[in-house]
Amino acid sequence: MSYPYQIKSLDSYNEAYTKSIESPETYWGEVAENFQWRKKWDKVLEWNFKEPSIKWFQNAKLNITENCIDRHLATKGNQPAIIWEPNDPDEHHRVITYKDLYFKVTQFCHVLKNNGISKGDRVCIYMGMVPELAVAVLACARIGAIHSVIFGGFSAQSIADRLHDAHAEFIITCDGAYRGNKEIPLKSVIDDALIQCNFVKKVIVLTRTRQAVSMIKGRDVWWEDEIKKVETMGSPDFPAAEMDAEDPLFILYTSGSTGKPKGVVHSCAGYMIWTTFTFVNVFQYQPGEVHFCTADIGWITGHSYIVYGPLCSGATSLMFEGIPTWPDAGRFWEIVEKHKANIIYTAPTAIRSLMSFGEEPIQGKDLSSLRLIGTVGEPINEEAWKWYHEHIGKGKCPVIDTWWQTETGACLISNLAGVTPHKASWATLPLPGVQPVLVDEKGIEITEKDEHGFLKGNLCIKAPWPGILRTTYGDHERCRLNYFATYENLYFTGDGAIKDDQGNYRITGRVDDVLNISGHRIGTAEVENAINMHSGVVESAVVGYPHDIKGQGIYAYVIYGGKLDDQNLTRLDINSTVAKVIGAIAKPDKIQFVSGLPKTRSGKIMRRILRKIAEGETQNLGDTSTLLDPLIVDEIVKNRV
Ligand code: PRX
Repeated sequence: MSYPYQIKSLDSYNEAYTKSIESPETYWGEVAENFQWRKKWDKVLEWNFKEPSIKWFQNAKLNITENCIDRHLATKGNQPAIIWEPNDPDEHHRVITYKDLYFKVTQFCHVLKNNGISKGDRVCIYMGMVPELAVAVLACARIGAIHSVIFGGFSAQSIADRLHDAHAEFIITCDGAYRGNKEIPLKSVIDDALIQCNFVKKVIVLTRTRQAVSMIKGRDVWWEDEIKKVETMGSPDFPAAEMDAEDPLFILYTSGSTGKPKGVVHSCAGYMIWTTFTFVNVFQYQPGEVHFCTADIGWITGHSYIVYGPLCSGATSLMFEGIPTWPDAGRFWEIVEKHKANIIYTAPTAIRSLMSFGEEPIQGKDLSSLRLIGTVGEPINEEAWKWYHEHIGKGKCPVIDTWWQTETGACLISNLAGVTPHKASWATLPLPGVQPVLVDEKGIEITEKDEHGFLKGNLCIKAPWPGILRTTYGDHERCRLNYFATYENLYFTGDGAIKDDQGNYRITGRVDDVLNISGHRIGTAEVENAINMHSGVVESAVVGYPHDIKGQGIYAYVIYGGKLDDQNLTRLDINSTVAKVIGAIAKPDKIQFVSGLPKTRSGKIMRRILRKIAEGETQNLGDTSTLLDPLIVDEIVKNRV
């Protein structure tokens, strides 16, 4: 398979970029010719950001799985599509060729159909990182059902909220999942969620850990039993549903600045083009290479760069069940050596955490197969970037720092490995079709440089790229308000950035009330709501603070109404409430009990002050004269934790 749209030099990048901006319809129409369509489009693009209404490849018909699987069968049927490395290094790895994948996906389509699932239904997938997770995702896409994958770390309450929001009547899960030395009881979490969701009709349960689970008659079925029923049918061929270009492919919930996560909706055609185009260009993928993305499929990175992007490109995608530090901190490097991975794509948090173990876990590991190394999910500090470049990339591999979001579907700003230059801790240049602009609070484009010679502002994008979100499930107005209403005619990312003279961008972090904890997005309001659920809590305010490994940590200021005899125990109680309401990933790192919060006379919490205190600043807290009770600030500073 060749990729005629692969950009191979800096000059071609400049040329492609200019063409994509001047004639987007010609540019993307030509890229789209390299995909398999049931029917081609009438018009490449029609849009406005006002509603917003964004339509790519209008009236085209396709099924993304024919692009991910069927079209590779004749030429690379025996090539590994997925290599799966289990959590336990002593368990055998699995290799799934494109032919195997076709067989498994079509077989599972029958299971979905036999269980009453059809086009347009929402299916929640809550599984560990086993190959069947990819199979479940692809089978939903093939049948035309809308998948909503939920990361295995979310709590029953979070699952219930998402099931309600999408009115998902079907669930695919596992009995349990292995992660390091832990066994996560997934089915039992689902059972807890379903107490509140009696509209759920079927739960399909894959055996992985074979721990005891409760199987409810008429509702819960074993994956393996359902497969056996299909096996008796002989050939499992399953014709893919014909989807419109703009039909929803999936929903993925993500946090924003309000309390309730939003169901970001991606479309079939635009998302396919965008993930594949970026995969081929950013990673400069070469046929036959092994691509190792360490993310979980529960996040957008796994959707786009373990499943859809690589498979649409006919690549070999390496999928890992476990964690970077188990059984020891050399696990990633062992996997690279074992499977001769050519690409590793991971989060700065993982790099910082592995860096803290020194070079010993790398010694003796042959990493010579690596051609490029990448990061995603949060700003990477220069120290971590350099360590990664020197010790993993051996000073030879280009480092790609890819900036994007759940809402963008795939990378928007990144160097193209080995083609456009890398720059430590800079995401660098926009991809073709992406028009970033830095604006001030009023939405006016920044034209004056700061004291370091950079343009600095809030990062927006001027026009749609094929992978932009189309709506937030069930609430289009929310989508408009969140992304398209802050600044007129711009998509607002929620991030701040700086730009240098060469046009490179460096993302400086969120400018809204969203935290990025170990590369995972969590809204401060969401954490506050969870803390406030604890019976003794009167009010709380949550901010982020710099954390050596996680990038950001969660600092919670809590007004506690009950008795505080044992502060540490109360902290544990609050944390366990947060774990129940959201999941363990949202537990505050620090909890400070306070008698009041700094509020303006209109009752607004001055987070700026709380942020500074959490960062360790005790003196220059800015103007506190407008506060209702300025003395509260002294108390909070004095009792910092
Ligand atoms: O703040 C940015 C940060 O992660 C946010 C998006 O989070 P999420 O939707 O969970 O997607 C993560 C995986 C794409 C962004 O708004 N972010 C992502 N990549 C980078 C980044 N910050 C700095 N540099 C990056 N490369």
